[in-house]
Amino acid sequence: MRTIVITGGTDGIGKGLGLHYLGRGDRVVVVGSDPDKGRRFLEEAAAIGSGERAAYIRADLSLVAENRRVVAEIARSHPVVDALVLAARYYRSTRGETAEGIEHNFALFHLSRHLFSHGLADRLEAAERPVILNLAGPGTDLSAMNWDDPQFTRDYRPDRVMAQCGKLSDLGGVAFTAAHPGTRIRYVLAHPGLTATGFTGDYSEADAALVAGMHDRGQPVDAAVDMLRRHLDDPDPEPLSAYMQHTKIDVDGAPFDPAAARRLADITAAVLSGIGQPV
Ligand SMILES: NC(=O)c1ccc[n+]([C@@H]2O[C@H](COP(=O)([O-])OP(=O)(O)OC[C@H]3O[C@@H](n4cnc5c(N)ncnc54)[C@H](OP(=O)(O)O)[C@@H]3O)[C@@H](O)[C@H]2O)c1
Repeated sequence: MRTIVITGGTDGIGKGLGLHYLGRGDRVVVVGSDPDKGRRFLEEAAAIGSGERAAYIRADLSLVAENRRVVAEIARSHPVVDALVLAARYYRSTRGETAEGIEHNFALFHLSRHLFSHGLADRLEAAERPVILNLAGPGTDLSAMNWDDPQFTRDYRPDRVMAQCGKLSDLGGVAFTAAHPGTRIRYVLAHPGLTATGFTGDYSEADAALVAGMHDRGQPVDAAVDMLRRHLDDPDPEPLSAYMQHTKIDVDGAPFDPAAARRLADITAAVLSGIGQPV
């Protein structure tokens, strides 16, 4: 029985993957902020006879302290983690900061992924074939990085912010493999294609209309789960790989520049130390 941890596992693709692996006999721990979604996940797990292997942890993963609490809780109760799926997302039409003073997207899409992947690395190393699956939008140009103002204190535009979120995942993946030389953990970046999910977020009227159209055009969650599960069952042998739906992307190219990954790692360390949290 494998143990699979899924951030954002209470809705959309994360939930679909969670229920899939429960159905296959694995143990699944999901993390999300809305307790109603958590309860529904556990009810659905029970309905397929997997209640004993399902766990829900309530946490606001835009808060660094909450990420640390949950990572510590998982590490305490699970000596081995076979797979970590990073799937928490929240769309914001307008800029906001967390109670820790971090721009929300930078916190949820980047710091949470950073803290979970590095924080659970030793538990993953203990698994037979460990994998981190980061659901993102890999391979876009490095110009998506707003280096001078990564938390968009000026000129917040959701499309630019979302593009940077994908880039943060790419560079976070490069930084992870660089920080863990010789690791057995396979880090996979994957874009599943437009999928009709919860599209969790806080939308302006105009953005809400756009997202309703996306929901109509999106593939069903089951199709995304079918596409993604191969990365969890049989990841590519390289430490880092990236997929745009079924198409493999070269991770040695400019969008995955190691120097840019180091630059982001430095920014990440500075942000974390700025709020009194160790890197
Ligand atoms: N859907 C697509 O078309 C698409 C395309 C490309 C990539 N992706 C990527 O695939 C992943 C899953 O997307 P999705 O569309 O399936 O998402 P979704 O249905 O909107 O679900 C988002 C999940 O994130 C959790 N979440 C949001 N804010 C959180 C917070 N502050 N703390 C903890 N959990 C939080 C939500 O739970 P709570 O509401 O309980 O907090 C929910 O479980 C994301 O990484 C997304 O970027 C999706």
